[in-house]
Amino acid sequence: MSYTIDVHLTRDDVRQRMRADAIDGLQSASKSIPPVWFYDERGSQLFEQITRLPEYYPTRAERHLLETYARTIAELSKADTLVELGAGACEKTRVLLSALQDFGTLATYIPFDVSDEFLRDAASTLSSEYESLAVHLVIGDFSEHLAEIPTEGRRMVAFLGGTIGNLDPARRARFLFDLNCTMSSDDSLLLGADLVKDRRRLVAAYDDAAGVTADFNKNVLHVLNEQLGGDFDPDQFTHVARWNENEQWIEMRLRAEHATDVKLQEAGISVQFAAHEEMLTEISAKFTPARIEAELHDAGFVVDGMWGADEGEFLLTLAHPFC
Ligand code: SAH
Ligand code: AVI
Repeated sequence: MSYTIDVHLTRDDVRQRMRADAIDGLQSASKSIPPVWFYDERGSQLFEQITRLPEYYPTRAERHLLETYARTIAELSKADTLVELGAGACEKTRVLLSALQDFGTLATYIPFDVSDEFLRDAASTLSSEYESLAVHLVIGDFSEHLAEIPTEGRRMVAFLGGTIGNLDPARRARFLFDLNCTMSSDDSLLLGADLVKDRRRLVAAYDDAAGVTADFNKNVLHVLNEQLGGDFDPDQFTHVARWNENEQWIEMRLRAEHATDVKLQEAGISVQFAAHEEMLTEISAKFTPARIEAELHDAGFVVDGMWGADEGEFLLTLAHPFC
């Protein structure tokens, strides 16, 4: 069947936006860089390795929920088009696609991601497995290009993996509101969110014994070096994963072991790190079912079903816009 690609974020756009984020985030009193820049080809591959680590439970927990409830979700949504935001390797998607196909409605799959090459590879493999499916790739940033996603058909928009938790509360509210504005009342949102649980389990999931998450975290330094002519020495930085009880999120940081100066030539900046100074690279918020329902409601969604709340590991929520 057909295979099309829309690109809303070129390599030049990526470089320009990263430049703006570096100038803003690395020159502020408390340094940070947004997690979207983890995901070049290597970062996407490292994330895939993370999903197979014994400590990293979210992917397995969500897959289990999808395997158990995908038929029910397909019947409730009656979707003929599956849009997937932050699709990555399109792995768990297969469970949803197969359920929608069995239900007899599925015609189109629209994976959306910032990681261009990685998504192309993943989607082309998937396309050869689902021959009757029209696959329409969209390369873009879900904080900016939601309105560019095709709106034909009865759509289920899946946002899986707990990626919603990588947005801070203000960005999350904006994202959900913007998404709602692009949806019709027949469309549905399938949201995967990680649940609050024992602190030790949470921290272990972000600080695995094999050090894969540390490599993933430090990948942002490689990306900054490559894209912005930086001279970060990743060996001079230590991976930090910490549970923030007040905010109910995991924070990933990179700590400079010694005082160091870093130049980012293409951004025209020089950044000083004091010894033991930390830079925030990611938050991963954890939720309760009530909080997910409240945030969805505030953004104009009504909940049709929730799965996983009893198991307490991970939560899938199906919702639709109420106006
Ligand atoms: N959904 C998959 C992958 C999750 S990893 C799963 O559940 O396993 C997060 C994915 O979101 C990556 O593929 C990354 O490239 C993508 N991503 C992160 N920030 C993004 C953004 N701002 N816009 C679009 N995609 C983004
Ligand atoms: C993509 N996202 C949901 C992952 C998470 O768990 O927050 C990214 C990740 N960071 C470290 N490990 C995995």
